[in-house]
Amino acid sequence: MKIFFTSLTLLGIIFWLANCKVPTKSAAVVSDPYAESRGKHVAAINLLIKGREQVSVDSVFQNLKVLGGFPAENLVFAMDKWAQALGVDCSHCHNTGNWASDEKPQKEIARQMVNMGELINAELRKIPGLKSERPTVNCITCHRGALKPALRMQ
Ligand code: HEC
Ligand code: HEC
Repeated sequence: MKIFFTSLTLLGIIFWLANCKVPTKSAAVVSDPYAESRGKHVAAINLLIKGREQVSVDSVFQNLKVLGGFPAENLVFAMDKWAQALGVDCSHCHNTGNWASDEKPQKEIARQMVNMGELINAELRKIPGLKSERPTVNCITCHRGALKPALRMQ
């Protein structure tokens, strides 16, 4: 009897584990072929700012026009998230030999996207009756791993 119950519990756990895995597997997994390359850039910049991680981002980096008011270490993290949201490497927006340079037009587009996002969020938060306390649209909401956001369902 005891063995029966033990195996039943074990079976239950196995099923529970299997069920837990289902949503992770079936959730839309967006491929991220540039993750490794970005990881190297992120590591290099983290090394560059070593000891200044907690210093305000504006005093550590040279050419920030829309971002500010947070510790330096969060910038590279945010950059990696942006790149992932668009499905690109850092080089889509940057000359990776000169991060502060504005020579790639995509970098300026990204700044405009930040401004647009703020406008959208301000409008969004005027809509009464939404579920979230602070309803938010961000890069991922639209891009979902693609440069050109979808206009129709698959
Ligand atoms: C979608 C475009 C985009 C991608 C992709 C992107 N960045 Fe950026 N990055 C920007 C923009 C825009 C700024 C400037 C923000 C501002 O003006 O406040 C910036 C600023 C920076 C800066 C500060 C440079 C300085 O001194 O002013 C660094 C360092 C940086 N990015 C690193 C990275 C790394 C590393 C990656 C990849 C993991 C990356 N970026 C991916 C758009 C991008
Ligand atoms: C409300 C939806 C929306 C949000 C939010 C949004 N984008 Fe976009 N983004 C678009 C659309 C639409 C385009 C234009 C695609 C096209 O060319 O038709 C675009 C284009 C871009 C491009 C140019 C892509 C290229 O072809 O090189 C960049 C870079 C970009 N977005 C970065 C960002 C970043 C970074 C964020 C977050 C800070 C962001 N976007 C947030 C909708 C959005």
